[in-house]
Amino acid sequence: MKLGSIIPAPLRKPAKPGESDAGKGAAPADLKISPPERPSDAQRLGERATEAPADVLAWVDQRTAASGLLTGMLYRKVPKGTNWFYTLGSATLFAFIVQTVTGVFLAMFYTPSATQAYASITHINNDVFLGQFVHGMHKWGSSVMVILIFLHMARTFFFGAYKYPRELNWVIGVVLLILTMTMAFTGYLLPFDQRSFWASVVGININGTGPVVGPYLSDFLRAGPEFGATTLARFYAVHMLLIPGAIIALIGAHLYLVAKLGTTAPPWLRGERPKVAAPVSQLDAGVEGDGAPPAR
Ligand code: HEM
Repeated sequence: MKLGSIIPAPLRKPAKPGESDAGKGAAPADLKISPPERPSDAQRLGERATEAPADVLAWVDQRTAASGLLTGMLYRKVPKGTNWFYTLGSATLFAFIVQTVTGVFLAMFYTPSATQAYASITHINNDVFLGQFVHGMHKWGSSVMVILIFLHMARTFFFGAYKYPRELNWVIGVVLLILTMTMAFTGYLLPFDQRSFWASVVGININGTGPVVGPYLSDFLRAGPEFGATTLARFYAVHMLLIPGAIIALIGAHLYLVAKLGTTAPPWLRGERPKVAAPVSQLDAGVEGDGAPPAR
């Protein structure tokens, strides 16, 4: 089966000039004499929407022009030599989506109260259908996401992808890294067992030792001068509302810049010098080589 036949029309790769579904090659003779006027996108989609009222995709596209954005994202050019290391950003994104989906299911059964939090986690693990599985995915998934984000950051660093014009995307990435670490930190307290309680006490105290903002930060995290019942509510709100919202917005900006600026070529291909004929002057002087400037 041809791939083109299963991709909905609005998302299909735009045809290159001279290329059409009818076959490649020269334009039909009558087109050469008087080429017909090309219908505008709105007209074309309008016809599709009237011809097939059930074509929901065309109906939505006519009103949003979203297919242009999607085809731009899906069919953007990538440089030669891209490899598996370039998938680490998408892998981080996938890990974030898994965390979001499993987190939503956990939130349906979790109670963010100092007296009931631990019992609700025990209930999820022991009584809820697939509860232990979903909880396990969320718990291990957080470590997976942290590992992947560091690997992705290392890839962009070692491939020089932080340089002009991608500095802003690097800065957005650094904020995403801090937010991801904060997600892991605030999530750790939620089971409210002995380990998570004392680990959070230590974590908050470490934050308090930071210069200038340290004491304010630890007061904010504790929701007051003492670690208490409100601390759990504070951590829960930060963990499931504040930071996910910020991460989603920043991932949107990050991906927009990736599509806008394109992907960086691997450094070993970027450094390649074009092969040119050796200048006659060098040949006369008996200089060997492929024409590349002499090494200094
Ligand atoms: C939630 C976290 C993140 C997600 C979901 C994410 C996602 C992505 C994706 C899908 C790409 C394009 C594919 C690729 O090059 O791998 C990308 C590119 C990029 N990311 Fe991230 N990223 C995240 C965090 C970070 C961090 C922590 C940094 C660095 C501090 C960073 C810096 C960059 C840069 C500079 C590019 C452009 C790469 C290039 O042009 O070759 N990202 N990111």
